[in-house]
Amino acid sequence: MMEQKRLAEFDSDDTADDSEDDWTFAGVDTKYMTHGLHAYPARMIPQVARKLILKYSKFGDTVWDPFSGSGSTLVECMLTGRASVGTDLNPFATFLSRVKTTPIDFEILRKAHEILSKKISTTRTESHGSLEIPKMHNVDLWYKKYVQHDLAIIKKAISSIIEDSVRDFFRLCLAHTARETSNLKKREFKVVRMKEEEQKTFKPDVYQVFGDNIRRCIPLMQSFQNALPENYIKSKVIYSDNRTAPINNNSIDLVVTSPPYGDHGTTVAYGQFSRYPAHWISLDHEAVKTVDRRGLGGKSPREFDETALDSDSIRSTYWKVHDNSPKRAKQFFNFFYDYNESIEAMYKKLKSGGHAGIVIGNRLMARVRIPTDKITAELGVALGFKHVTTFPRNIPTKRMPWQNAPENVEGFKADTMHNEHIVILAK
Ligand SMILES: C[S@@+](CC[C@H](N)C(=O)[O-])C[C@H]1O[C@@H](n2cnc3c(N)ncnc32)[C@H](O)[C@@H]1O
Repeated sequence: MMEQKRLAEFDSDDTADDSEDDWTFAGVDTKYMTHGLHAYPARMIPQVARKLILKYSKFGDTVWDPFSGSGSTLVECMLTGRASVGTDLNPFATFLSRVKTTPIDFEILRKAHEILSKKISTTRTESHGSLEIPKMHNVDLWYKKYVQHDLAIIKKAISSIIEDSVRDFFRLCLAHTARETSNLKKREFKVVRMKEEEQKTFKPDVYQVFGDNIRRCIPLMQSFQNALPENYIKSKVIYSDNRTAPINNNSIDLVVTSPPYGDHGTTVAYGQFSRYPAHWISLDHEAVKTVDRRGLGGKSPREFDETALDSDSIRSTYWKVHDNSPKRAKQFFNFFYDYNESIEAMYKKLKSGGHAGIVIGNRLMARVRIPTDKITAELGVALGFKHVTTFPRNIPTKRMPWQNAPENVEGFKADTMHNEHIVILAK
């Protein structure tokens, strides 16, 4: 159990020599406390978020994560005594972030679990006339009949919990169970079904999976609560596109974020990942379905305009991509057009003197390495930022969902990104 942190421990630390900065964090646990409650694609390593927070902000400052995803930055802000705001246009991401940043007493969760287990047992023996199976396309393809039934029993039992934060904690446990017991291929972010053969022998015990997950999650929540500083500041999570986020201009001290690597359709499909679990916890179905279209680069391609974005790297890279695939070149331009609007929003919301730490990977597109780190710096400078530095970060191990990207052709060893970059801008 971690002790309550003294506040002074978390004041800013900008005395370190940048050249000696090592951002690798090889072998560290990245799923401690509420970071481990639920998976999310392309999570930021919490240690990187923490290091940026400590280096570029001080106790009580306000940090914004414009692409907050599962809320890694927000959790670290609460642990280090910063105020924080997260925005994401995926309703599953904002739901997950809210649960991760809402501390709940161990005793409350333990008792609620006990009552919930009893409720599930009685619901199992009742008549099931009123069981609600969420409306989803081809539900029988994704869930065995008995799994649908058992998940619906759990869903019904959870709905009787009165306290919102406690109910949401168990809804998150149900979301995890709905993923684990589905016919979705495991360890895959896109919607892919298990092979027929595998499905025949796949007979998950839904109640067991749910119970095991609760027993795993309650201690994670307990350690989060124990580690919070005495006067921690609760994170604010906003379901919004960051380009239109309801945040005042000149109000943010620090931005810490990891944007998508490219358009969601061809890299990490956040919406696809969230779709099935989200159905079972009754999140807005239409909003989850459209995440990948609403994310950066998700709309229909724009024609290339050399003068629209002030970045030499964009201009030169566009033509390299175009040589291999004119269609991908349009997607490339479309993504960076939207990305530029997000950087502009960061600039507007930051106070003068504030920093932005942007963690990015340089992906491949049509077999061309995209220098997103340079592009970020160039776009930032064109918008008024100063480019302070770019830290390289080796990635010790990482799942590579983007290996499924369309540019992967047989015989070509596709994208194995072994490093990221952390671009530091100052307003
Ligand atoms: C790389 S993930 C962020 C992961 C996050 N740092 C974490 O640790 O979980 C990128 C996120 O950006 C979100 N996103 C994409 N376009 C967005 C936009 N225009 N406004 C807000 N969020 C957006 C996606 O839904 C996704 O959750």
